[in-house]
Amino acid sequence: MNSRHFTIAIDGPAAAGKGTLSRLIAETYGFHHLDTGLTYRATAKALLDAGKTLDDEIVAEKMAREVELAGLDRDILSQHEIGEAASKIAVMPSVRRALVEAQRRFSEKTPGTVLDGRDIGTVVCPQAPVKLYVTASPEVRAKRRYDEIISKSAPADFDAIFEDVKRRDERDMGRADSPLKPAEDAHLLDTSEMSIEAAFQAAKSIIDAALSRNN
Ligand code: DC
Repeated sequence: MNSRHFTIAIDGPAAAGKGTLSRLIAETYGFHHLDTGLTYRATAKALLDAGKTLDDEIVAEKMAREVELAGLDRDILSQHEIGEAASKIAVMPSVRRALVEAQRRFSEKTPGTVLDGRDIGTVVCPQAPVKLYVTASPEVRAKRRYDEIISKSAPADFDAIFEDVKRRDERDMGRADSPLKPAEDAHLLDTSEMSIEAAFQAAKSIIDAALSRNN
């Protein structure tokens, strides 16, 4: 770490609340935010749009190198099928290498950055002065997904969502390259029984303490 930029690394499984928390933190501190999941999603979408299969690592790496961080559109990329495809191509080491390079460049922006994903504290920014691992039980995460879909008046099947959350966890935690796990020095935030406001306050105390050490 140096005093020119300050990096906050936020990891955790799907639907644990890390996206909302990361955006709140970035807004509060005036830092740049990157949802690194969108980089995997954009790569997957480029493959799907080009009619390519999801098992050709050479083509996938090429697509990963062409991803423009400035053009990532959350609304388009949030589709379920894109998330599934992203989780499949995220096991490919050369895709990860390409995206990690871009993410590291982003993390050097001043005055600071918030990156959220699965391997930020362990691989992308292991020197980050603040690492948070945001988690919640699979049931709670599935229920949040379910409520979110219902609130948009779309049909949702809780059991299917629950199975999906568990399958995604297995894939993200079980892959050989950069599996999802807390960094040794990460602060654990279990949001199963915590409001987003409470999680934010907990994160804020950790960040404020690190910022004052840094000054
Ligand atoms: O957080 P998300 O649902 O947008 O992520 C989509 C997929 O991308 C997820 O299943 C795993 C992968 N991913 C990753 O491997 N590493 C990251 N830093 C971020 C996401």
